[in-house]
Amino acid sequence: MAIRNWLRLRGINRRKIREILYHSIASKWFLTPYFSPQQRDAIVRTGDPVRYGAVSLAIEQIIRNQVYGSLAECGVYRGSMSKFIHDRIPDRPLFLFDTFQGFDKRDSDTASDNRFKDTSVEYVTDYIGDTHNIIIRKGFFPDTTSGLEKERFAFVMIDFDKYEPTKAALDFFYLRTNPGGFIFLHDYRNPESDWACSRALDEFLDNKPEKPILIPDGLGSAIFRKV
Ligand SMILES: C[S@@+](CC[C@H](N)C(=O)[O-])C[C@H]1O[C@@H](n2cnc3c(N)ncnc32)[C@H](O)[C@@H]1O
Repeated sequence: MAIRNWLRLRGINRRKIREILYHSIASKWFLTPYFSPQQRDAIVRTGDPVRYGAVSLAIEQIIRNQVYGSLAECGVYRGSMSKFIHDRIPDRPLFLFDTFQGFDKRDSDTASDNRFKDTSVEYVTDYIGDTHNIIIRKGFFPDTTSGLEKERFAFVMIDFDKYEPTKAALDFFYLRTNPGGFIFLHDYRNPESDWACSRALDEFLDNKPEKPILIPDGLGSAIFRKV
């Protein structure tokens, strides 16, 4: 009883205990064959070890398979994923696309969606720390791709949440991703905005040789490698 009260006073409920056990034991166990203890800690700290672990392995493959090209993240918010990507491959350009002030009203289903406004370019660059090779593209996507038509990519993380920018990102980056390059799409299993992300990807890949592979991360990412 005393222990139960002690835990309750500290806000530790059953869910919290499950989370602690998961982070301290289970995720370290399944990450062990792939990562050093230091890398494992960095991945576990993110709170979504499946997603971040998959990104880390993809970057390793890009380096090992010598897939040339830059990296990009579409939908940055406060830069958690951006920093993780940049820390793993700091010698390549990483393009960051976001309004840095939340959704743009030109995209559908954004009228009452006020999330992701509490950020700024300064916040993200401070958070990333080492900004060598970080290229910020602030504004409405796809307008912010202007001038990048000749750029080539090895890795693209698409995390815009909404249908139009997701479709526009697939259109822009697919043509510019080198063979063997990775395209990640977050929220594939998220029903938000009438399954915006899965609709965009399924329509896009319908007439392409690549097919998505799903991973059981938070909100379900889909991944494909460019043929
Ligand atoms: C889910 S958040 C990104 C989270 C981030 N990838 C992470 O892992 O922390 C989605 C972001 O997409 C941005 N966004 C959505 N539509 C956009 C558009 N058309 N142009 C630019 N940014 C957009 C929003 O401003 C928001 O910051």
